[in-house]
Amino acid sequence: MIRTVIAGIGHYLPERVVPNSELEKLMDTSDAWIQERTGIKERRYGVPHKETTTTMGARAAEKAIERAGINKEDVDMILFATLSPDYFFPGCGVLVQREMGITHKEAPAMDIRNQCSGFVYGLSVADAFIRTGQYKNVLLIGAEMHSMGLDFSDRGRNVTVIFGDGAGAVVLQPSADSGRGILSTHLHADGTHAEELAFINPGCHGGYHLGTEQFGYPQQEYGGIFLTEKMWQDQNIFPNMNGQLVFKTAVTKFPEVIREALQANALNPSDIRMLIPHQANLRISQFVQKSMGLRDDQVWNNIQKYGNTTAASVPIALSEAWESGNIEKGDLVCLAAFGSGFTWGSALIRW
Ligand SMILES: CC(C)(COP(=O)(O)OP(=O)(O)OC[C@H]1O[C@@H](n2cnc3c(N)ncnc32)[C@H](O)[C@@H]1OP(=O)(O)O)[C@@H](O)C(=O)NCCC(=O)NCCS
Repeated sequence: MIRTVIAGIGHYLPERVVPNSELEKLMDTSDAWIQERTGIKERRYGVPHKETTTTMGARAAEKAIERAGINKEDVDMILFATLSPDYFFPGCGVLVQREMGITHKEAPAMDIRNQCSGFVYGLSVADAFIRTGQYKNVLLIGAEMHSMGLDFSDRGRNVTVIFGDGAGAVVLQPSADSGRGILSTHLHADGTHAEELAFINPGCHGGYHLGTEQFGYPQQEYGGIFLTEKMWQDQNIFPNMNGQLVFKTAVTKFPEVIREALQANALNPSDIRMLIPHQANLRISQFVQKSMGLRDDQVWNNIQKYGNTTAASVPIALSEAWESGNIEKGDLVCLAAFGSGFTWGSALIRW
């Protein structure tokens, strides 16, 4: 039986550290509030116009490729998960292909738009392609440059203090050793509350149809297609979040999808060597740990240093846990994520 293994892993974090005290100067917030509600002490921000989601993803991917012991020319497919792409389109998959100079094979590049669950969704897509024998080296990247899309006024404080920039990447390969690799993935979605954690402008739902009069639509006083002047004037161009609904749903769905993965493989929480939860909020992770009956050394938390890096958070945490020697061959690793959509998922990996 063919299984998918993580052959190489890496992450990249921009150098600039932004402590809570820096945000205190920009908006009505406090280090005490942020730490108490989220556990976050600091986050990283990329350098505007020099770094982008794509360049950060490329730096993480270079490490993963090197550690997999392959050449970039060996990559058969690129999957790129992000909610903060360089462009509205095309996606970061093709941009990272160009950035890394791996266009020779004209290998496919696909973008995954599943926000905080993007990496787990991507892992599942890669696993399917590898187990069917279609591709041998799949590069999966999760990267975000949130700092370019946040509202640094008081109005955006509930969202802005949470998010940070960074990237993580893995190279996935087939293995004939059926005792190793991805044991299963479990994906879910429920769009009922799509707008409760969303970045809805720019988008065609509120845009302006050029040629309005010819089509008989009511005339509008402002122009543009996806982004209208009115959206800009109202500063209705930032992410919004119903924090309490997200929190309540996350603490239900995380344990549910972790248990689903364990049950599918006839395993117990005590079998988990390392749970890598999406770093949404330290309080959410602590709640999940408690409800699963896990010890402190079974759960990886780094949100204190990096904030929530959305699609990058799981691969950064996994890479860090592996680099620090806390994940070794044969260990059972559980990845779990929840986020905007809502979408959520888990993966069990025998390292
Ligand atoms: C965002 C979150 C930390 C807010 O914590 P909370 O306890 O729910 O706080 P509330 O939203 O009820 O707000 C409480 C008060 O703090 C204020 N507040 C919000 N953000 C603030 C900030 N950055 N600094 C100071 N005060 C803030 C609110 O305005 C509110 O004030 P009020 O009582 O005068 O109206 C919390 O809801 C959360 O973590 N939710 C999940 C978020 C998440 O994980 N998102 C990513 C999902 S992938």
